[in-house]
Amino acid sequence: MLELTGLRCGYAGDIIAVQDLDLTVGEGETFALIGPNGAGKSSTIMAIAGHVSVMAGDIRFRGDSLLGVPVEQRVRRGLALVPEGRRLFPDLTVVENLQVGGYTIPVGRQSALQERVFEYFPRLAQRRTQSAGSLSGGEQQMLAIGRAIMAEPRLLMIDELSLGLMPKVVDMCYSALAQLRTEGLTLLLVEQNTDRVLKFADRVCVLESGRVTWAGIAQAARNDPTFSSRYLGIGDPAGSEP
Ligand SMILES: Nc1ncnc2c1ncn2[C@@H]1O[C@H](COP(=O)(O)OP(=O)(O)OP(=O)(O)O)[C@@H](O)[C@H]1O
Ligand SMILES: [Mg+2]
Repeated sequence: MLELTGLRCGYAGDIIAVQDLDLTVGEGETFALIGPNGAGKSSTIMAIAGHVSVMAGDIRFRGDSLLGVPVEQRVRRGLALVPEGRRLFPDLTVVENLQVGGYTIPVGRQSALQERVFEYFPRLAQRRTQSAGSLSGGEQQMLAIGRAIMAEPRLLMIDELSLGLMPKVVDMCYSALAQLRTEGLTLLLVEQNTDRVLKFADRVCVLESGRVTWAGIAQAARNDPTFSSRYLGIGDPAGSEP
């Protein structure tokens, strides 16, 4: 589904955010990208979505390179991103935000998609005419995911789904994702909530200072009591919670 080879990406002024990154995500897989602040997690998914410059290497999606492909074309090929901070249109209503998300989809299919979003997130259905800016943080995250789903993606990338949300709301978002992946959606999740994402993902890659420090199956990371202290700088080596 997605293949990064020797990816180097970054920003103007020779700022390199990620170096030599090799990563593959298979169809239907849930892949987690974790690591400390500034590791390059957001830069990686922003490069895949087309918002951050690729300096070297390649990004292939469903067999074709994405290099030089405009953002909108990537969306049409099946890539969707829920960015850090959600980036909703606060003055537009819930329904209007969903319509923006579905702009690449024929109008005739949009209302069925919208109803599907409301099945995943019933709370949004109750608030369909409310402005996005007046929603709670959790509802805004649900709307951001819903807006991405409106583009009928094959690969959904979410940056920091859990950030600032209560555990109960995080549960609601993850159960919607669990449902979406049973329907075949491939997921690439960037998360600070590593306990949570290690339980949910199939495979994991740890980045630090733009380089991979560990990659493997999520269960192996879960079963290693020294994993958090060694690769994420959390807790003590005995594996107890901080
Ligand atoms: N817009 C930008 N302009 C210049 N440098 C940037 C920009 N955004 C990020 N960087 C730099 O790129 C590197 C990687 O940042 P990135 O935001 O990808 O990390 P991250 O793993 O998502 O961190 P966090 O957990 O804090 O969100 C950092 O050194 C950061 O300072
Ligand atoms: Mg980030």
